[in-house]
Parts: sequence; C-alpha cells; structure tokens
Amino acid sequence: MTFSEIITDWYHQNKRELPWRKTTDPYRIWLSEIMLQQTRVDQGLPYYLKFEKAYPTVFDLAHAPEEEILKLWQGLGYYSRARNLHYTAKEIAFERNGQFPSTYKELLKLKGVGDYTASAIASISFNEAAPVVDGNVYRVLARFFGVDTPINSTKGIKYFKQLAGELIDRDKPAAFNQGIMEFGSIQCRPKSPKCSECPLNSSCVALRDQLVDQLPVKIKN
Ligand code: ADE
Repeated sequence: MTFSEIITDWYHQNKRELPWRKTTDPYRIWLSEIMLQQTRVDQGLPYYLKFEKAYPTVFDLAHAPEEEILKLWQGLGYYSRARNLHYTAKEIAFERNGQFPSTYKELLKLKGVGDYTASAIASISFNEAAPVVDGNVYRVLARFFGVDTPINSTKGIKYFKQLAGELIDRDKPAAFNQGIMEFGSIQCRPKSPKCSECPLNSSCVALRDQLVDQLPVKIKN
C-alpha cells in the first residue's frame, strides 16, 4: 500500500465523529476551518455548535450584528478571525447570492481565507486535489520522510507544500487531507506518538533513525 492509501484507510477506521464531518456544505466547512485555526478540536467544537445553531446559513451570519458574533466568539481568541468571518459572510450573502467560490484559487481571494483554509474548503466541499498543510501535516511528513528542513522557513514551507501535493490522493482529496491531519493529531502526535501501533512504522525514517523526538525542526525567531 502507498502512503496515501494507508492514510485514507486509517482515517476511515479511526476518525472522530465531528459535526463538520457529516457535511460538505462549504459554509459549514469554512466556519469549522476558521475556528480550528490556532485552536484544538475539543476547544473549537462547542463554539462550532453554538455558531451552527445561531447561524445555520451564511445569510443568518451575514445579517447578525457584529457585537453578537464577537460575543459568541468570546474565549476563542484571535478576534480578527471573527471580524473577517462576518465580513466574508456579508460578501458571500449579498454579493454572491450565498454561493461560495468553488475553486482553491477563487477561495483564496476571500478575506480571512489563506492557503490552508482555501485548500481545506476546495478539497472537502469541492473535491479539488488541493493539499492542506497544517502543523499536523508538517509533523507527519517530517517524521515519515525524515525531513529536517525547518517547517517555518521559506524553503521548508515550499518543500512540504510540494510534498503534500505529490502525495495527495487525487480521487479522495477530502479523505486524504483530513486523514493526514487527524493522523497527526491522534497517532503521530507531538508527545509520545504511538509508533508501536502505527500503520506506517515499517517505513518511517524518523522511527528507523530514532529521530521521532527531533522532528519536525522549527527555527526560533
Ligand atoms: N484540523 C482542522 N481541520 C481539520 C479537519 N478538517 N480534519 C482534521 N483535523 C483538522
């Protein structure tokens, strides 16, 4: 089995049941991915549920007063995310008749939507083979392939993005992207990764060379 097959299989067997995994609605995927930036799943989940209930559609969010949105956001931090969320909801609702763009390239133009979020929405909602690279993905790739290029260097960012783009399952980009993130979060976790029961342990470079604790490399700034 290839790396991608192992990741997607693992995902189907081990994924957590999360509300945003029951849908491909780009509004909900966008909302969940904005909330999960710099935020752990268990911390973001109650907020996602609150927002989904208060604003079931992008029109509801667009029509809401900003202070109400900020109040619901309270505790999640990085409040610019909430302000951008409202700004983009209004753009989608009032200038695009509620329709999200359907490609990575177009999604990237939305305020508050960077490379990571555009790739997540394009792959999960529209099946585009756009690779996501978050902290989990850096860790899995750095360890499995034994890459010591710093993940926060220009060279590293480019290198890991390209590597993820070569590995992504073109038929199942949503399962691959969410699978590699989930794999990083549950299996190949930062501390005490579960190497003895890992489906990739027979070809993992970091495990072979006893570098699991040393990878990924991050340069201080
Ligand atoms: N972290 C943020 N978004 C995620 C997703 N869609 N799947 C797994 N982990 C994530």
